[in-house]
Amino acid sequence: MKESRIIVALDFSNAEQALNLTAQLDPRLCRLKVGKELFTVAGPNLVEKLIRNGFDVFLDLKFHDIPNTVAKACMAAANLGVWMMNVHALGGKKMLLAAREAVPSGTVKLIAVTLLTSMDQDDLNDVGLQGKPEQIVLRLATLTQDCGLDGVVCSALEVSSLRQIIRPDFRLVTPGIRLEENSSDDQKRVATPSAAIRNGADYLVIGRPITQAQDPLRVLQQLNQSIAV
Ligand code: C5P
Repeated sequence: MKESRIIVALDFSNAEQALNLTAQLDPRLCRLKVGKELFTVAGPNLVEKLIRNGFDVFLDLKFHDIPNTVAKACMAAANLGVWMMNVHALGGKKMLLAAREAVPSGTVKLIAVTLLTSMDQDDLNDVGLQGKPEQIVLRLATLTQDCGLDGVVCSALEVSSLRQIIRPDFRLVTPGIRLEENSSDDQKRVATPSAAIRNGADYLVIGRPITQAQDPLRVLQQLNQSIAV
């Protein structure tokens, strides 16, 4: 079967909750995302355990530091055996190039966060960034591609415009996904799984619609069916 495009966000505060959920999932139907909260409490041991259980892991730590420090952190993450990791594109060209050199193409997928979706025009003004958020996203995605990284995280609403300016094999990883009948929780810019894929997303990051479901495996199966081409 084709590899799943769904990445389940393990937004839990301890390893036990994360392992309880993943015991109900199937590594052929999804990948997993471990972010800052879970990694800070459960660390590399949990990541290695998830990988031993057959899952591809996206380590979502969004590194942002001087080039040498980010390069070393990327190497450490790659040594854990993760499938995907990320850095902040706002760290700049030298940092992005150092990260790419530390994690060569064709090994771990290295992607970047462009502008945090929580940043609005006021936030940009506060930190002295000129331009509209959409323009900055396009600019940072282009920089990320030019530095040889494999893709970016972007909102479902940015996918179409990014697809027009980037290479076809540049990966777009999209959170803010909701099933038709779901509430949007605290997500403001949401899209359904099929709409996001149709617009050009490669992977969908989905948290609560799966993690809070009565039957997470069933939701995962339905999600995979809804985006099967
Ligand atoms: O539960 P939900 O589906 O909203 O989870 C989405 C996941 O994607 C969370 O881990 C969240 O931190 C992450 N994310 C996001 N929006 C972004 C970047 C990451 O929701 N712009």
